[in-house]
Amino acid sequence: MSRNLIAIRTLENDEINHLISLGADFKSRIRAGEAVPRLDRKVIGMLFFENSTRTRVSFEQAAFYLGMRSSNFSTSSSSMTKGETLKDTILTLRYERLDGLVMRHRASGAPVLAARHFGGPVLNAGDGQHEHPTQALADALTIIESKGKIEGLTVAIVGDVEHSRVARSNAWLLDKLGADVRLVGPKTLIPTRTARLPGTFYYDLEEGIDQADVIITLRLQKERMKEGMVSSAGEYASMYQVNSESLRFAKRDCIVMHPGPINRGIELDDYTADGSHSVIHHQIENGVFVRMAAIYHCFGGGEA
Ligand code: NCD
Repeated sequence: MSRNLIAIRTLENDEINHLISLGADFKSRIRAGEAVPRLDRKVIGMLFFENSTRTRVSFEQAAFYLGMRSSNFSTSSSSMTKGETLKDTILTLRYERLDGLVMRHRASGAPVLAARHFGGPVLNAGDGQHEHPTQALADALTIIESKGKIEGLTVAIVGDVEHSRVARSNAWLLDKLGADVRLVGPKTLIPTRTARLPGTFYYDLEEGIDQADVIITLRLQKERMKEGMVSSAGEYASMYQVNSESLRFAKRDCIVMHPGPINRGIELDDYTADGSHSVIHHQIENGVFVRMAAIYHCFGGGEA
C-alpha cells in the first residue's frame, strides 16, 4: 500500500516510532556495509520550489541508497516559469509515470494538493510555515541516540517558532512521544494560543531553557517575516542567542540542535554550534536515514 507523508500532526505514535526505528536500522546497515531493501526501477521526482541544501541532498542520497533514480525539478528551470499551474505540473509528472514525489513549496498545504492529483506517494520536504516531517524524524532519532529516549525529557524549541515548519513538526512529534515541550522566543515570533501548537510558551530565554535536556534552535526566517517583527538581528541575538553564557541554565549534559542553515552569531555562537553540546552533524547524517525510512514506508515497504 502506498502512503503519503505530509505532516507529523496526523500520524499515530506507532507509525512515528516505526519510521524512527526503521531509520536507525537503515543507518546501522549502511554504516556496516550491509544490504538494504531496494526499490529498483522506481523513479522519484524531487520538486524543490524553495531553496534547500540539506533536505534535497539527503533525499537524493536516500533514494540512491534504495536503488532508485531521482528526477530533479526546480521552478526556475520548469514550465512553471511559462505559467503552468502546480496542478498541471503534477499531472504532467504523473503521466510521465514518475512513481513518487518529494516536494518543498512555499505554500502551506501544497503537498496535499499534489497528493490529490498525483495519486502516488508524496513526501513533504517542507511546506511554508506548516510542517517538515522528515526533519522532525531526523531530530527524534538524534535525541534518542544521545538521551536513549524522548519520553520525560524537557525540550526547549528556541527562536522563530511562528515561521518555522521545523518547530511545528518537532513540537507535535515530541509532545506525542511524551516530552515536555517549551516554545521559547520573543512574543512576536511565538504563535498565538489559537494556533493549537502543543507546548508551553516562554518569552524569556533563561526561564525557557532552565534545566532543559535538549535545546532546538531555529533560524530567523526573514523571508517569511513582516516588517517590524524583530527590531534587529543584533537585538534578537542579545536576548535569545544560545551561547556559552545562556547554556549555563540548561542541564550540564544538554544537547544543542539546529536544523540548518545556521546564522552564526545570531541563533548560536560558534562555541555552541561547534562545541561538545552540539549534535548538529548527527542531525544532518540522520536526515539521510530517516528519509530512506520515509521513502521506503511511503512506497509500501513493511519491516526492512
Ligand atoms: C529548514 C527549512 O527549510 O525548513 N531547514 C531544513 O530543512 N533543514 C529550516 C530553515 O530554513 O530555517
